[in-house]
Amino acid sequence: MTGEIVLTKMNRSILLVSRPERMPNETNFRMIETPIPDLGEGEVLIRTLYLSVDPYMRGRMRDAKSYVPPFPLNEVLIGGVVGRIVESKNPDFSTNDIVVGRLKWADYSVSNGQEIKKIDPHTASITTALGILGMPGLTAYFGLLDIGKPQPGETVVISGAAGAVGTVAGQIAKLYGCRVVGIAGSDEKTHYLIEELGFDSAINYKTTTNLKKELSEACPKGIDVYFDNVGGEITDAVMTLINYQARIVVCGQIALYNLEKPDVGPRILPNLLIKSASAKGFIVSDYAHRSQEGLSQLTEWVVQGKLRYRENIVEGLENAPAAFLGLFLGENTGKQLVKVSD
Ligand SMILES: NC(=O)c1ccc[n+]([C@@H]2O[C@H](COP(=O)([O-])OP(=O)(O)OC[C@H]3O[C@@H](n4cnc5c(N)ncnc54)[C@H](OP(=O)(O)O)[C@@H]3O)[C@@H](O)[C@H]2O)c1
Repeated sequence: MTGEIVLTKMNRSILLVSRPERMPNETNFRMIETPIPDLGEGEVLIRTLYLSVDPYMRGRMRDAKSYVPPFPLNEVLIGGVVGRIVESKNPDFSTNDIVVGRLKWADYSVSNGQEIKKIDPHTASITTALGILGMPGLTAYFGLLDIGKPQPGETVVISGAAGAVGTVAGQIAKLYGCRVVGIAGSDEKTHYLIEELGFDSAINYKTTTNLKKELSEACPKGIDVYFDNVGGEITDAVMTLINYQARIVVCGQIALYNLEKPDVGPRILPNLLIKSASAKGFIVSDYAHRSQEGLSQLTEWVVQGKLRYRENIVEGLENAPAAFLGLFLGENTGKQLVKVSD
């Protein structure tokens, strides 16, 4: 029956029990069961429907200072969640409201209402609140438009192009009249980028024997905007092909996240110098004050069919660690999600 929620007796949740060295593995995580918490005044109980696994979570598993504090060991992981309110002692939320927020990797979370917001399940699939109409979509939108500043006719290269952020950034660049070239890790992904998302060209970095040569053929007029999701050797190759006054959007460096020691590569500042180019890093929360603007525009494009999206959905809370690990193996096309309950 629609809307009716059956409460399981216990609340399963996933803890981080050790800090990964290099590539994380299943032993870094543990699932426990505890009773469903009781609510205090002003609180709501949320049944997790979907949870998001995101590359930035790898950074929080390290005991190092960053823009967000490390996850404490032996505590439940926190991430993006879409859920349904199943009990409310907060006048702002009613049973069956669908909400999104940073909540526990668990069957249930308790919230005082401050870290959640309601979403309209009629505008788009509720899963989009964790993807194209959520944090990854906003990252693509602000990174590309505010830092990349793409102009019609320019060439935009996107690394990590077939993932949650990359697919959105590439499609927005197409809407702005650019030539768009994606770099991704399988032929299935490069076909998807070209055939379904309208990229002009796409390169499989795992099979190419000469990335720089393939890139220069795909970008005959050089590279004006580079939206970097991965860093490492892919970025080294791109940097040799940038144009005068190119803009480098430093969004993510996933190729480096599992390294034990900092990677030493070519020094890129001379490339910036001789091309009068700029490189700028950003965190999507820098744009928190403009998130409504980004969300309205992205929603309009999705509803109009101008932006397409794919989601890779793994079933079961117990499989969340495996889904997270899959991000580093390139198992996802589009946004990687975990379905926790119906
Ligand atoms: N600045 C911000 O505020 C912000 C916000 C969100 C995300 N990000 C960053 O943006 C990037 C993309 O995030 P996302 O959520 O959209 O993830 P995603 O692209 O959906 O998933 C990660 C993808 O990265 C690729 N990858 C993994 N290891 C790689 C390696 N060693 N070299 C090259 N590619 C590799 C894989 O695709 P392949 O098959 O192509 O290898 C994988 O599918 C990440 O670096 C993330 O940290 C930044």
